[in-house]
Amino acid sequence: MAAHAKFRLRSADDLRAEAGRLGLDIPYNESVSVLLEKAPLAGREIPNRLAVLPMEGADAEAGGAPSEWTRRRYRRYAAGGCGLIWCEATAVRQDGRSNPGQLLLTERTLGGFAKLVDEARAAAKKEWGPGHRPLLVLQLTHSGRFSKPEGTPRPLIIQHNPHLDPLHGLAPDHPLVSDGELGAIRDDFVEAADLAAAAGFDGVDVKACHGYLLAETLAAHSRTGSLYGGPFENRTRLLLETVRLIREEAPGLLVTSRLSATDTVPFPFGFGMDPDEPERTDLAEAKALIGLLVRAGVRFLSLSLGIPYWKPHFGRPFDKPVPGGKVPKEHPLEGVARHLRVAAELQRTSPGTAVVGAGYSWLRAFGPGVGAAMVGAGRTAVVGLGRGALAYPDFAADLVRRGRLDPRKVCTACSLCSYLLRQQKRVGCVVRDPEYKNAEGAALKGPKAR
Ligand SMILES: Cc1cc2nc3c(=O)[nH]c(=O)nc-3n(C[C@H](O)[C@H](O)[C@H](O)COP(=O)(O)O)c2cc1C
Repeated sequence: MAAHAKFRLRSADDLRAEAGRLGLDIPYNESVSVLLEKAPLAGREIPNRLAVLPMEGADAEAGGAPSEWTRRRYRRYAAGGCGLIWCEATAVRQDGRSNPGQLLLTERTLGGFAKLVDEARAAAKKEWGPGHRPLLVLQLTHSGRFSKPEGTPRPLIIQHNPHLDPLHGLAPDHPLVSDGELGAIRDDFVEAADLAAAAGFDGVDVKACHGYLLAETLAAHSRTGSLYGGPFENRTRLLLETVRLIREEAPGLLVTSRLSATDTVPFPFGFGMDPDEPERTDLAEAKALIGLLVRAGVRFLSLSLGIPYWKPHFGRPFDKPVPGGKVPKEHPLEGVARHLRVAAELQRTSPGTAVVGAGYSWLRAFGPGVGAAMVGAGRTAVVGLGRGALAYPDFAADLVRRGRLDPRKVCTACSLCSYLLRQQKRVGCVVRDPEYKNAEGAALKGPKAR
């Protein structure tokens, strides 16, 4: 592992040189045209191979409906020209919200979601014409051990975990959620999927990443006497049951899942770790799970890594940690390379599903060139930006119209958006979005903010 360093790349040659120095495989294409062509996805057609990844805004109205701030975000993404908009984590029930500003989809908030979809579709059409129709996917979630529906922790846990329990000061006798309750939560996912279809979304993501409830079931090696713990067949049951039930209940709706291919929490408390070498990543179970998801009808998948509260750099390579956070002992380009490696490996072994890759934002204006090389080599199907899209919602438009990104508009990987989310403040890009900054900048004032 190389020492952590801030971004200093000025050209593609610098990127190649840095990758070479670190011994990393970072492919790069000067032309991004492969990203800009129409592409088949899950039996539909997307206008291009660029995606906005889900990024929670923590700005829902009190009851969980999208607010004007939420809808503004999606209008901007849609006008920005991406082919796939993966809408942020949306709780399927009140006790599963990660913060009081997280979206919540119920009968009562359905109208707000329908408005979000309508406005996003109208914005895309106005900017790009009727032939351009981005795919809209809504991420459904229960935050499990990271639930804070009223702002304070209300952890719902599948198993005790010596690595994660201390993060919330969990007592050793904190009760585990029962199988019956898990069945009820599964049914809430199905109900929310039905509502998402009614709101006009093309698909739903049964979120199984970042240590939240369904991701934790995948890692529940130590849960005994349960349908949802122990052997692989049991640990994957809740996710697969949920996917199958949604497919039955809402046949016209696409179903996908966002997976952390590995949690990076040592075996037996994390998913995707090697039983013989507990701190080593092992993709065998991720491959087997994807095979089962494909058989259950999942035609595209979004891949992520890690648990943001545990080792945030795995998921989001950054220049600066959140204020008060640790600087990791690896170079951010190593984190980017890990994302690329995992996506390529899982895409190679799972040709039946299209992989939406992540981890490109740290690369700034070079992200699309790397993404184009990944897509060109068949190592991933769609290139997603999370923080990069929050900072630069019209990044796809600049690629289409100018063939490159404007370095003055890219994400600076400063982690302030992550910090805002942790503080349960409305999330936005303080660096690149003056309207947000003027309205919300005060949220960042204070001695520890920067
Ligand atoms: C503020 C913030 C909010 C996020 N919200 C979500 C979310 O709702 N669902 C999800 O799956 N990932 C979420 N992520 C992770 C991103 O989707 C993405 O995987 C990550 O930022 C790495 O991609 P990037 O390098 O393009 O930013 C969030 C990340 C940040 C920084």
